[in-house]
Amino acid sequence: MDKRYQDQVVMITGAASGFGKMAAERFRDEGAKLALSDVSGDALRAVADALRASGTEVVADVVDVSQEAQVAAHVANAVSAFGTINVGVNNAGIGHDLAPLHLLPVEQFDQNYAVNARGVFLCMQQQLPHMLKAGQGVILNVSSAAGLTGASQLSAYAAAKHAVVGLTKAAADEYARKNIRVNAICPAFTVTPMVEEMAEQVSTRAGLSREQALGHIASRIPMGRVAQPEEIVQAMLWACAPENSFMTGQAIALDGGLTA
Ligand code: NAI
Repeated sequence: MDKRYQDQVVMITGAASGFGKMAAERFRDEGAKLALSDVSGDALRAVADALRASGTEVVADVVDVSQEAQVAAHVANAVSAFGTINVGVNNAGIGHDLAPLHLLPVEQFDQNYAVNARGVFLCMQQQLPHMLKAGQGVILNVSSAAGLTGASQLSAYAAAKHAVVGLTKAAADEYARKNIRVNAICPAFTVTPMVEEMAEQVSTRAGLSREQALGHIASRIPMGRVAQPEEIVQAMLWACAPENSFMTGQAIALDGGLTA
């Protein structure tokens, strides 16, 4: 039986770590060719080398997703190597210092919005012309449970992730008749370097151990635990899969009941 993504060109941003890195491995397992990018060059090269060693075709570029010219150059590289982009997983993102809104430095708001919201907009803007040309395409934007509900001490992040849901729904509506599906996933706390960093901040401020800090974060989730990356990444592959052909414009919560 054919693999689900056999010879599909899958572009993943933020591919050097966390969800992006694991998604690259899973799409590889299912037959995809990969266009990978990240702002962190060394880590990206290590991921790309390992994937190439397993026989996969990979284009890897150092890209800051908030910079239009860099995103455009990466998409052009990928299309020149592979001919098109079938699936865009716009995953790159950053957190910010935990702080009440009235104390959050404006620079952190701007930086967070630039990467998390503008970055998704720029990636879609570059991916869509190729999908329109091909008469098909799938985009999956990585938002957050904080894109569906409030998130104490994370106001800029919540604002940017709500924007990702808005961009997703607008694009889904605009391109549905062109056979392009656009969805978002909205995970809650998952053990990746991003949440390790948050646990570090909680542990330093509250004088807790790493485990206690993760326990404190998990206590906000009705299921009483944080997620493992596999639980999120399997949903990424499901959301983009060819058999999932009638789902578009959705912001899918993967959050242990946080937004229930
Ligand atoms: P991570 O920190 O492990 O990975 C994020 C990757 O994005 C890193 O490799 C980083 O270098 C890259 N990146 C950061 N800024 C960039 C930029 N300007 N241009 C290109 N690449 C950039 O974090 P994780 O958890 O894998 O996050 C992936 C996505 O999932 C993010 O959008 C995040 O907001 C979202 N998310 C994560 C959750 C979690 O609990 N881990 C929960 C909800 C959403």
